[in-house]
Amino acid sequence: MSVILLGVETSCDETAAAVVENGHLVRSNTIASQFDLHGKFGGVVPEVASRRHLESINPVIRQALEEADVSFRDLDGVAVTYGPGLAGSLLVGLMAAKTIAYALDIPLFGINHLEAHIYANFLVAPDLPFPLLCLIVSGGHTDLVLITRLGEYRLLGRTRDDAAGEAFDKVARVLELGYPGGPLIEKLAREGDPEAVPFPRAYLEEGTLDFSFSGLKTAVINYLDRARREGRKVAEADVAAGFQEAVVGVLVDKVLAAARVHRPARILLAGGVAANRVLARELERRAAAEGFGVTVPPPVFCTDNAAMVACAGYYRYLHGDSSPLTLNALAGLGL
Ligand code: KG4
Ligand code: ZN
Repeated sequence: MSVILLGVETSCDETAAAVVENGHLVRSNTIASQFDLHGKFGGVVPEVASRRHLESINPVIRQALEEADVSFRDLDGVAVTYGPGLAGSLLVGLMAAKTIAYALDIPLFGINHLEAHIYANFLVAPDLPFPLLCLIVSGGHTDLVLITRLGEYRLLGRTRDDAAGEAFDKVARVLELGYPGGPLIEKLAREGDPEAVPFPRAYLEEGTLDFSFSGLKTAVINYLDRARREGRKVAEADVAAGFQEAVVGVLVDKVLAAARVHRPARILLAGGVAANRVLARELERRAAAEGFGVTVPPPVFCTDNAAMVACAGYYRYLHGDSSPLTLNALAGLGL
């Protein structure tokens, strides 16, 4: 028997819908980005985002169904992100999903966006062994999570200030690269020398698995200010490479510190920053040296998408764990 779920995701600045069969066969994965809209502001403007979601949601869902070659009547359920995220944006996807569930009389699955990022790994590797250690690195979160079994999470560490993706975006803004900053910094860093400009790495007090990136961001800003004041030409590629190296170094160090204590059967990467190939390769290399295997979803399933939401919904479907149609958006939802 096959289970066909529609996933819907509108928590931030991507309007996304996907059709996934049996939790791993991605039949379509449609994403309408709003980068053009928010680029000139250097970040997402919530009011503008929700208005664009409203315009895009129906065409995006229609396209996802068409590309998957299914009709509404083929759906066994709808999975939708209901938090965390921007309230106005979340509501657009949630209302669309509820309407479909009600009209077709099929179950609704309210999905936690952070959980969906984790499930991007199950989309590509459905038989992952437990316990799992997952680093979620996105624009809003930097969480190190121990997953003892499906749906059971223990937060081991988190950022105390900026999220890793936020640091990428802010540094990209001061380098005047554009938005979102992560991919642009990664590209520029390829031409730079990561050793040329050493930036500080914050490890915080001994033994903690928490992160801090605001000091690093300030160090980059100060370095650029000083160079400009002194009339020195800045090698921007070196700055990008040095910054990326510092972020990746701290992330990998802390993941391995947690792995040595908790001995996971596998390490996972999740969230938009997991699309960074330098981070993925460095984690794979250093984890392998200590005997740990690493799973990293392909970049398209790392950044916001609805296939990961449909995948999370599949496991809820198997447990008959649907959500009521009274489900509301929760902007500050935690894991
Ligand atoms: O998961 P995501 O798409 O949205 C949130 O849930 O926040 O993550 C977006 C974040 C942005 O900060 C973006 O700059 C970052 O992920 N990002 C990257 C890369 N691609 C996206 N950061 C570093 N390297 C990348 N290649
Ligand atoms: Zn996300």
